Amino acid sequence: MKKAFVIGIGAGNPDYMTIQAINALNSVDVFFVFEKGEDKDDLVRMRKEICDRFIKDRKYRFFTVRSPARDATTPSYKAGVQSWHQERAEILKSFIKDEMREGECAAFLTWGDPTLYDSTLRILQNVRGDGSLEFDCEIIPGISSIQALAARHNVALNTIGESIHITTGRKLAEELPDSDSIIVMLDSGEGLKAAENEDVDIFWGAYLGTEYEILVSGKMSEVAGDIQRIRKQARAERGWIMDTYLLRRNS
Ligand SMILES: C[S@@+](CC[C@H](N)C(=O)[O-])C[C@H]1O[C@@H](n2cnc3c(N)ncnc32)[C@H](O)[C@@H]1O
Repeated sequence: MKKAFVIGIGAGNPDYMTIQAINALNSVDVFFVFEKGEDKDDLVRMRKEICDRFIKDRKYRFFTVRSPARDATTPSYKAGVQSWHQERAEILKSFIKDEMREGECAAFLTWGDPTLYDSTLRILQNVRGDGSLEFDCEIIPGISSIQALAARHNVALNTIGESIHITTGRKLAEELPDSDSIIVMLDSGEGLKAAENEDVDIFWGAYLGTEYEILVSGKMSEVAGDIQRIRKQARAERGWIMDTYLLRRNS
């Protein structure tokens, strides 16, 4: 039987790799990577560095495919994402069928943790959907950007006995959730802009765990302008940005 690992590699720092993840890496024959375009080559390079550093005495290969672009003109966001996942599933199906030998083990190195805002598990479900392709699948958890953010700011994610709301920039721009602790990911800037006048503290982190890491925290009213300026500049310099933040009420 062929096998696929989905390995959480942590959100940026190779030291976030767990022992379980390293053990899994060392049983892989072929790594599958979707390339997202020149601006994100840094992310492919970091994955290759993880393999170089942690795999000992084992031959492996990389299978890299340019990721199809999501059609942002589709009126329904969810329908657009679903059809994009299906397109990627077809690519994966051919990979598993044609590029893997019987008994081989493949791996998808997912950024942070595979269960948090990552499409790999859903895509693999689509691959298995029609039952025409059988393979084992094992998930290895990783340190997410949320955990990295909290650790780097030395702050707990929840207040005593209260819930945490995890959301996206797009959803935040629609409405500020009624929670003491709001974590925002996948923000193209619209969430930050929408929240800039709120009476909250913000703990913001970009490129967490990497050599480009930037941290800013403080009262939103005092630091919102700085964050937006730094964000814009860093994005222009690197060609991409990944940032996550915690909004804390009543602190
Ligand atoms: C597609 S999601 C992947 C999340 C990932 N699975 C995780 O566990 O963190 C990408 C979003 O995660 C956040 N993110 C991932 N890595 C990050 C990092 N090193 N620094 C800051 N934010 C990061 C950003 O909000 C980014 O827009």
